[in-house]
Amino acid sequence: MESLSAPVGRGPVPWNWLLLAVSLLNFWSLPTTAQLAIVSTNATEGQDVILRIRNKPPNVRGFMWYRGEEANYKHNIARLGMLQGHRPGPEHSGREQINFDGSLLIKNVTVKDTGIYTIVVYLPDSKKEIGFGRLNVYGE
Ligand SMILES: *[C@@H]1O[C@H](CO)[C@@H](O)[C@H](O)[C@H]1NC(C)=O
Ligand SMILES: *[C@@H]1O[C@H](CO)[C@@H](O)[C@H](O)[C@H]1NC(C)=O
Repeated sequence: MESLSAPVGRGPVPWNWLLLAVSLLNFWSLPTTAQLAIVSTNATEGQDVILRIRNKPPNVRGFMWYRGEEANYKHNIARLGMLQGHRPGPEHSGREQINFDGSLLIKNVTVKDTGIYTIVVYLPDSKKEIGFGRLNVYGE
């Protein structure tokens, strides 16, 4: 009986200290790895919807919104740059506007607006981050 329980906890570094160190590392690295995302949203047809973003990094220089799950310029809705201002893209339907906090306002949504959306945020030193989220629009 003694020989079964004796080895537990022996060794150069106790296993529970290793676990604690690993969980502290995870905890402290969380803020930098928090993934940019679009808050998934449900709406009914005819509503004005705001697609909000989560885990926005600091010092954003510009936002670019797309329909679909990729940053394909053909599907760009609009961009907002601190210097360039608001520019519509090929997928702009006349109902969308990027707010100063980066969220996307879509007026009078239809079921055709249902789908995945992509946002790219532009940061200093030519860095950027990408995030995704879903809008569901239900008919009345
Ligand atoms: C949207 O609706 C779906 C299906 O009813 C539900 O599972 C989901 O939790 C809803 N999401 C939000 C953000 O309300
Ligand atoms: C909303 O869109 C529908 C078509 O999808 C249109 O018939 C209606 O006039 C629009 N409403 C407003 C307030 O723009």
